[in-house]
Amino acid sequence: MKGILLAGGRGSRLHPITVGVSKQLLPIYNKPMVYYPLSVLMLAGIRDVLIICSPHSMEGMRTLLGDGSHLGMNITYALQEEPRGIADAYRIGADHVAGESSALVLGDNIFHGSGFQDLLARTVENLDGCTLFGYPVTDPERYGVANVDAAGRLIGVEEKPRSPQSSNAITGLYFYDPDVVEIARDLAPSARGELEITDVNQRYVDEGRADLVELGRGFAWLDAGTYSSLLEAGHFVRTLANRQGVHVACLEEIALRLGYITAEECHRMGSEMRHSDYGEYLVQVALSLADTPTGAQS
Ligand code: DAU
Repeated sequence: MKGILLAGGRGSRLHPITVGVSKQLLPIYNKPMVYYPLSVLMLAGIRDVLIICSPHSMEGMRTLLGDGSHLGMNITYALQEEPRGIADAYRIGADHVAGESSALVLGDNIFHGSGFQDLLARTVENLDGCTLFGYPVTDPERYGVANVDAAGRLIGVEEKPRSPQSSNAITGLYFYDPDVVEIARDLAPSARGELEITDVNQRYVDEGRADLVELGRGFAWLDAGTYSSLLEAGHFVRTLANRQGVHVACLEEIALRLGYITAEECHRMGSEMRHSDYGEYLVQVALSLADTPTGAQS
């Protein structure tokens, strides 16, 4: 299975913060935003990831993540010159996907919840068409919305409806079979001029090949696309770190627990950043996990 991380766009809702730096490189408490969606792909067991960048974000992203080999990953990059819509990821990423199934994650989406790794593993294993993730929100009109029938079956998806029929937002994490490339290729731009991922999803719904997994209570889904949500996401991550010692989206720790890197490698990376609490945490994780069986958590 291949991964695509969409980290383009203008970040215009966050101006002037994003005039000089791209949104996905902004901090969510103690790490760059892109770490969070990348951690989701890693937890899904995906090692081959294409990061789609705007001209604005490309250099910083490459500096930050390189070819991913320090995480036991293979990371490549592609440019999206203009924000033509989320489904454009599958036009740009067609060669990367290369006839395989894939997961697409948006660069400003943050997921955290117990059992997430198992949920992702089941999703990968059972994928038949597409799998979407629903999450109840108080402001569904800001998102793609899932409409389900009385039996809980997904019957339609709508992008930012004026009068949402449910409070079930569709999160920015999507799993698709190889047909997605063809569907994206044939897509016409919407009234607002974008290649809508919601139109791709509706195609799968029409064909009876779309599955909705509801992320229930006790699960956190945050998007960091506005001033407030950026701040709230940072507070959330800090609260977990300070209260429970849980470090959400610590990529090196995940790579270590998945067996992609050794404890020595994790220790070395931590030592190089030892002046920061993050680096100190890596050193502690490496010491505590040296010679123990692995098994990742977010
Ligand atoms: O966060 C989940 C929501 O994401 C879904 O519920 C919606 O169905 C989906 O359309 C999307 O809505 P947004 O209004 O959040 O989309 P936005 O235009 O803000 O783009 C989301 C991210 O994708 C953002 O970090 C920028 C990036 N992006 C977006 C577009 C349109 C790109 O990299 N390239 C693009 O062309």
